[in-house]
Amino acid sequence: MATTHDIAIKREDAGEEGNAPVVAVENLHKAFGNLTVLNGISLSVGRGETLAVLGRSGTGKSVLLRLIIGLEKPDSGSVSIHGQDLAGLALDRMGEIRLKMGFLFQSAALYDSLTVGGNVAFPLEHHRRDMSRAERTGRVRKLLAEVGMEGNLDKMPSDISGGMQKRVGLARALALDPEILLLDEPTAGLDPISSGEIDELILKLQRERRMASIVVTHDLHSARIIANRLAILDQGNVVIEGSFEDLQQSEIAFVKEFLKQS
Ligand SMILES: Nc1ncnc2c1ncn2[C@@H]1O[C@H](COP(=O)(O)OP(=O)(O)OP(=O)(O)O)[C@@H](O)[C@H]1O
Ligand SMILES: [Mg+2]
Repeated sequence: MATTHDIAIKREDAGEEGNAPVVAVENLHKAFGNLTVLNGISLSVGRGETLAVLGRSGTGKSVLLRLIIGLEKPDSGSVSIHGQDLAGLALDRMGEIRLKMGFLFQSAALYDSLTVGGNVAFPLEHHRRDMSRAERTGRVRKLLAEVGMEGNLDKMPSDISGGMQKRVGLARALALDPEILLLDEPTAGLDPISSGEIDELILKLQRERRMASIVVTHDLHSARIIANRLAILDQGNVVIEGSFEDLQQSEIAFVKEFLKQS
């Protein structure tokens, strides 16, 4: 019979392999009035892993990310970070957990009135008050270099391309060294070459930083490149979850159709 001690050791092993989920959603339900958006979604992602969430427009992909960030509350089911259910957390604890998350909203959502440097500095100004101005500038330069945007510190968001805006958004998402990275359509609206460059950048960041990442995308090609696992949502449920090969081999009519159309 397993003793409590044995169980503790097993848990530790699982953690060392890096397979323990960092983010786990279980049986998540969310409706807005009569509209059921999520109808029992369960997904998880571990350290160093990238999960791509695919689905047609309006299937609740952005809502799922907002629930994970804690900007919306589930009707039932749970969102856990390192096994800790977000429901019922005190506000300050929720604030601490949110600082572990970097996110890029669907529209790069840079602050129009701030320079590129100002945008990336924003989270540092608010959450790293221990940093001196010089330290902060150094950090902003480093982050911009990490996303291939060095030398653009003083530009305004309106003066750079959509792909560059996404890069700056990524630099801002990374400012506080998040353990969890949540990206909502990082390549939407970009031409194929810029999309490919953003995919490369996401792969590089993932190699270097080993975050637990969830990337919402319409773009199957991009998902195939950046993700270890893919999940397709439809009508509030996960239709399939697995590697790209698992999706290709699926006999589910919806999956076949989705792959054909993508
Ligand atoms: N705060 C809200 N109040 C009411 N309805 C909402 C709210 N947020 C989302 N919805 C609805 O929930 C559904 C799912 O929205 P969501 O933005 O998650 O879709 P999506 O999968 O991200 O779509 P897209 O691929 O177009 O970005 C949509 O029908 C949307 O209108
Ligand atoms: Mg969306």
